[in-house]
Amino acid sequence: MASGSRSLSLLLFSFCVVPLCFSPVAGKCHPDDEAGLLAFKAAVAGDPSGMLSTWKAGTDCCKWFGVDCQQSDRVVTLSRGGQPNDPKSFLSGTFPPSFSKLQSLTGIYFSDLKNLTGPFPAAFFKMPKLVYIYIENCGLTGPIPADIGRMSQLGALSLAQNRFYGPIPASISSLTGLSQLNLGGNLLTGGVPAGITKLTQLGVLLLERNQLSGPLPNFDSFRNLRFLGLSHNKFSGPFPASIASLSQNLAYLELGSNQFTGKIPDFLGNFRTLDTLDLSRNGFSGVVPKTFKNLTKIFNLDLSHNNLVDPFPQLGVRGIESLDLSHNKFHLGRIPSWVTSSPIIYSLKLANCGIKMKLDEWKPSETYFYDYIDLSFNEITGSPVKLVNSTQYLKGFWMSGNKLQFKMTDLKLPTTLEELDLSQNLVFGSIPGSVAKLKKLNVSKNRLCGRIPKTNFPASAFADNLCLCGSPLPNCRR
Ligand SMILES: *[C@@H]1O[C@H](CO)[C@@H](O)[C@H](O)[C@H]1NC(C)=O
Ligand SMILES: *[C@@H]1O[C@H](CO)[C@@H](O)[C@H](O)[C@H]1NC(C)=O
Ligand SMILES: *[C@@H]1O[C@H](CO)[C@@H](O)[C@H](O)[C@H]1NC(C)=O
Ligand SMILES: *[C@@H]1O[C@H](CO)[C@@H](O)[C@H](O)[C@H]1NC(C)=O
Repeated sequence: MASGSRSLSLLLFSFCVVPLCFSPVAGKCHPDDEAGLLAFKAAVAGDPSGMLSTWKAGTDCCKWFGVDCQQSDRVVTLSRGGQPNDPKSFLSGTFPPSFSKLQSLTGIYFSDLKNLTGPFPAAFFKMPKLVYIYIENCGLTGPIPADIGRMSQLGALSLAQNRFYGPIPASISSLTGLSQLNLGGNLLTGGVPAGITKLTQLGVLLLERNQLSGPLPNFDSFRNLRFLGLSHNKFSGPFPASIASLSQNLAYLELGSNQFTGKIPDFLGNFRTLDTLDLSRNGFSGVVPKTFKNLTKIFNLDLSHNNLVDPFPQLGVRGIESLDLSHNKFHLGRIPSWVTSSPIIYSLKLANCGIKMKLDEWKPSETYFYDYIDLSFNEITGSPVKLVNSTQYLKGFWMSGNKLQFKMTDLKLPTTLEELDLSQNLVFGSIPGSVAKLKKLNVSKNRLCGRIPKTNFPASAFADNLCLCGSPLPNCRR
């Protein structure tokens, strides 16, 4: 698309190099837009990474960073994004009232600007063409305006990862043109307004990471919904039955870290397009339905931290990317064959799943992509040396509470490794100096011996071994 519009402007440009082409304000943006943008810049006290450095009075504002006029003299979209992990990449300030001079703005796309403090900008209410609002991780605070419903032209509203608090206003039911609503990662309380069922165009409804509670809306009216995220809230009661009506289109369903109880319904097996399912950290009990065999598109499945019992169904997936069944009441016996054969798996977490095997005998068809392996608290014997050596990108390897028996100096740590937990096993030999670069290490309760290499880990990371010595444990005897 970008190259298409570039060639279009080149074409227009070549028509205009002929002398007869006169356009006195060629490419100059409308003065109102320049004024609106400069007012915003003036209200920004801090911009250490220079995100607005090209915004200079008297130059064509259509050419400023993040400003797009789409071949008109009016600013149509505005986008600025910070680097999420760079502490010097932020804007601090607030939206000024005169931001509303941008009367032709249809979309604002701001992300990771971190410190645009202040409330939901009142100026937005005076911008009748504004249809797409994405202000994510920007530091806005206060309640979501009770009269947000007045912005009935909206097609997308994302206020994710700010510090909005208070209820989701009932007037949200008037935003019937919304195809995306993302209020995740705020401090919202209260219930989901019943009138939200009027937003029948919604394809994305994300409310996760708030403090929402109370009854969930009837999902029957959301026939287009593809993404539903309600995790990390305070919802309770049985699995919401009306979710059954979303079986045709839903790709992403996250209900994790709430207080749901009861059985996982059989109807979930009908969700042929589901690729991500997170029901973790609830009180779900009973068996995982046999119908899960039909979830052939599932890539990410997290059922960890519930009270689910055997038998776990055979799944019909061709490849799973990430699986977490940890801390239920499963006795899987072995790592399921559909996991071992997955060509794309990067995260496998089967802690406390009743697995009994010799690790050397596990022959996964692909280990190259593994980032995380957690097989803690099973009955796994043998050595992880070959498995770890066959990974390229491993970041976390958790094997606490098994019966691994191997010489620690044989373990070749991948350069990517950050966390290693081998505590409560039968590991022997001495600790290699290479562990110093890890962020977390625990080798307590093994049979290790010898001088501890220089690290910053606490004594509890090394405690209860055969004869480890040196800081942070007592000195070695000479
Ligand atoms: C964020 O903005 C507020 C006021 O706008 C200011 O007091 C504070 O120092 C800023 N924080 C950072 C990290 O710049
Ligand atoms: C999977 O779907 C097919 C076709 O709809 C159905 O006949 C079958 O019973 C389902 N299998 C399970 C285990 O539910
Ligand atoms: C580790 O992998 C390398 C290359 O893949 C191989 O040459 C080496 O023999 C392996 N070492 C062990 C202990 O398996
Ligand atoms: C290491 O694991 C033991 C349990 O095996 C635990 O008591 C200790 O707090 C852990 N230490 C660290 C640093 O994780």
